[in-house]
Amino acid sequence: MRIEFGDLKLGESARRHIDDVLRTSWVSAGPKVAAFEEGWGKLFGYKHNVAMDNGTSADMACCMTLYDLVGAERGDEIIAPALAFAAVGNSIVAAGFRPSFVDVRKETLNIDATKIEEKITHRTRAIIAVHTMGKPCAMDPIMELAKKYGLKVIEDSCEAHGAKYNGKYVGHFGDMAAFSFYAAHLICCGEGGMVSTNDSQVAELLNSVRSHGRKPDSLYFDHLRFGLNFKMNDLEAAIGLSQIEQFREIFDTRKKNLLYLMDRTLDLQDIAYFNTESPNEEVTAHAFSVTLKDPKLDAQRLAEFLESNDIKCKRNFGSMPTQHRAFEFLGHRLGEFPEAEYIGNNGIHFGCHQYLTKDDLDFVSDKLHEYFATAR
Ligand SMILES: Cc1ncc(COP(=O)(O)O)c(C=O)c1O
Repeated sequence: MRIEFGDLKLGESARRHIDDVLRTSWVSAGPKVAAFEEGWGKLFGYKHNVAMDNGTSADMACCMTLYDLVGAERGDEIIAPALAFAAVGNSIVAAGFRPSFVDVRKETLNIDATKIEEKITHRTRAIIAVHTMGKPCAMDPIMELAKKYGLKVIEDSCEAHGAKYNGKYVGHFGDMAAFSFYAAHLICCGEGGMVSTNDSQVAELLNSVRSHGRKPDSLYFDHLRFGLNFKMNDLEAAIGLSQIEQFREIFDTRKKNLLYLMDRTLDLQDIAYFNTESPNEEVTAHAFSVTLKDPKLDAQRLAEFLESNDIKCKRNFGSMPTQHRAFEFLGHRLGEFPEAEYIGNNGIHFGCHQYLTKDDLDFVSDKLHEYFATAR
């Protein structure tokens, strides 16, 4: 493929960090993980940073802290957007909660904050705000609701490394924030995750939950709470450390690419919703998103056309509760989440990563125009 979703070129720095690890006899969680946690925290000003083996575990660990934090009981509810990568719904279920889905907005791909309140019940314990494709959620109204109803807020920032809302990095609004370092994300470890928080109690719980609920730093196998093995290892952290050194450059290059594609598609705005950035946001360039305004333009055919032109393409996630059999047990019916379902049927996305050249971006833009010229 000429245009991959993401790309990772490991340079000298990564080799040096990996060599350091290979020279030790300890490749599990060790000094490189600690350095990665510290470096990550310094980048964005998060006080506590607890590395995990992937972003799904990070989401799960966040949910699992709720038993101690707010005295949650198994079967309590966590509010989440209907449209997001399935890791979000799966993590809620795996941690022992019931996802309570709220529709999203086509224009932002994010949870519709005006529809959250009607889903809050006496069993609701938290809201997961997913900053989809690097676009921050409307955190002001979400935090107001959380305060009003005494709910915890988990910011799923897996796709939003370095995004800002009202001048502050995402992750500083809620009680904790989950990140993924999977391939194609801005900082990539191969596989990896992190939960960042400014709350020392949350950090202590996360430390325990990622190690089978053990009492942190205890010499004994003293299991205080439910937990699993979510630990990152030093080899993954070694790769992540090399990316931290380049984060600003990666962020800026991707952003330039995203803005270029947004500019080149201005004339197609009557045809599709693309990424947007409001004045109070700094959006992370996770991927370029296209949601067709007219279903007759056929997202599947568009995806196939782009793939046939060497542009790696993904359909959009769709509505977890009504378009994925995995969540059938919740008993929702198609039509309950119209915006998420619409995006699922009519959305695609592809990469705008840091190794793409201007020629690559022009090529993508030309192919989009070519498709719409004939499909319109
Ligand atoms: C919004 C969101 N949450 C969670 C995850 C899970 O992360 P991972 O693939 O590292 O488990 C992802 C993955 O990209 C994601 O996009």
